Amino acid sequence: MQNPYLPYPVRIDEIITETVDKNLKTFRFVFLNPEDEQKFAYKAGQFAELSVTGKGEIPIGIASSPTEKGFVKFTVNKVGLVSSCLHTMKAGDIMGIRGPLGNWYPWEALKGKNVVIIGGGFAFTTLRSSIVYMLDPANRKDFKDIHVIYGARSPGMLLYRSELAAWEQRDDINMHITVDASDDPDWKYNVGFVPTITEQKAPPGDADTYAIVCGPPIMIKFTQPVLDKLNYAHDHIIMSLEMRMKCGIGICGRCNIGKEFVCKDGPVFTLSQLNQMPREY
Ligand SMILES: Cc1cc2nc3c(=O)[nH]c(=O)nc-3n(C[C@H](O)[C@H](O)[C@H](O)COP(=O)(O)OP(=O)(O)OC[C@H]3O[C@@H](n4cnc5c(N)ncnc54)[C@H](O)[C@@H]3O)c2cc1C
Ligand code: FES
Repeated sequence: MQNPYLPYPVRIDEIITETVDKNLKTFRFVFLNPEDEQKFAYKAGQFAELSVTGKGEIPIGIASSPTEKGFVKFTVNKVGLVSSCLHTMKAGDIMGIRGPLGNWYPWEALKGKNVVIIGGGFAFTTLRSSIVYMLDPANRKDFKDIHVIYGARSPGMLLYRSELAAWEQRDDINMHITVDASDDPDWKYNVGFVPTITEQKAPPGDADTYAIVCGPPIMIKFTQPVLDKLNYAHDHIIMSLEMRMKCGIGICGRCNIGKEFVCKDGPVFTLSQLNQMPREY
């Protein structure tokens, strides 16, 4: 049995600076041992521990889709010790990835349904994974209408801008990109907070429609009543939590909310499940 604390060695293949403030970078990793890529089989919504030698590990959502082969991608915000060190690393550097960890968005339940993706800020990472997964030619027929409502503070703070532009051109996905404010005269999308745009653009809730919501707490706080107003059942609202974590495998007890370990039982929960849990997130 594989030691669950042992990271797979990876090489940084490419680094993309995503935002104008340069605090968000996407790291594309290639496994040093090709057989490790098979062992790292993941589903959209899962995360991994990125391991920087001598600094530590950080839990980060997997931004690539399982349908993208030969590499795995993560988008990391520079906030503290490990993420800042990662931001100084260069293509060609070697580090580790431990995972995949946690559960994933409920892809079986979402089959044949309308999927509304609602994201804000850098939490869009696993949502990018989900969109690429659903749009894959082998999977698109499994889902009905796909809506994406994605907001950032300003145009320069949006992630994956060239992909957003490409998705805008497609007729099998409804994109609703928004920014809190824009001083760009060429900005052609929405201006307004995510909850406001959700109220304007999201389809009403019904038995065939699920929302996946991922973003900063303030966005979640104001989006939830909008989804209530639009009649989304709480077991059709899916959320991903970002708790402090250490082991990532349900052993250290660092991430629990009541009896649930966010690293193992989550990070994905329905709002019905969260309603049963103490408000510690
Ligand atoms: C399941 C999961 C998925 C995540 N996905 C992403 C992702 O895709 N991209 C990304 O950039 N970040 C993501 N995060 C958050 C990321 O793990 C933290 O930002 C990171 O651990 C910070 O580590 P550090 O050593 O750089 O900072 P530290 O030196 O440990 O801390 C710096 C600052 O960040 C705060 N902080 C540290 N950890 C967290 C946390 N988990 N939540 C909130 N505040 C924290 C500290 O209080 C401190 O103020 C995710 C977290 C979880 C649990
Ligand atoms: S991080 Fe150790 S139990 Fe969840």
